[in-house]
Amino acid sequence: MEQENAAVNSIGKSIIIGSDHAAFGLKEKVKDFLSSKGYVVEDAGADSEASVSYVDYGKKVAGAVSLGQFPRGILLCGTGLGMSMVANRFPKVRAALCADVFSARMSRVHNDANILVMGGRVIGDVLAFELVQTWLETEFEGGRHLDRINGIDL
Ligand code: RB5
Repeated sequence: MEQENAAVNSIGKSIIIGSDHAAFGLKEKVKDFLSSKGYVVEDAGADSEASVSYVDYGKKVAGAVSLGQFPRGILLCGTGLGMSMVANRFPKVRAALCADVFSARMSRVHNDANILVMGGRVIGDVLAFELVQTWLETEFEGGRHLDRINGIDL
């Protein structure tokens, strides 16, 4: 039990999540899914389905990942497009918009994606959970891919 708590408290098991109103419902479900897997989840908002700008929440999550405050983040909006655009402006952030399991896996293996983006109006809950699990459990391959991702930041 003590060991289990230590694992949960370690940085590897902490994750920050954010959404706008369009994906608020999915965010809440993904939070429950993450908690059930032992993750400590920091919720950056939004807090309801009241209309907000995805930009504000994208900046909160991507900013925290960019600064190294969280190793990984998850962002959700209606399509995932706006959140991707915002997040990928931050140094050291590699945000991957995924709607299929192969891309979620490869975003880790080849791109070492540190933010997973999903569209709450594009995919269903079960697929979202599958994407999250695959993305969290897949390791970066390194090697030639490390050189490549090191070349991304301007
Ligand atoms: C909100 O209506 C919608 O524009 C937003 O959730 C997102 O899809 C933007 O890219």
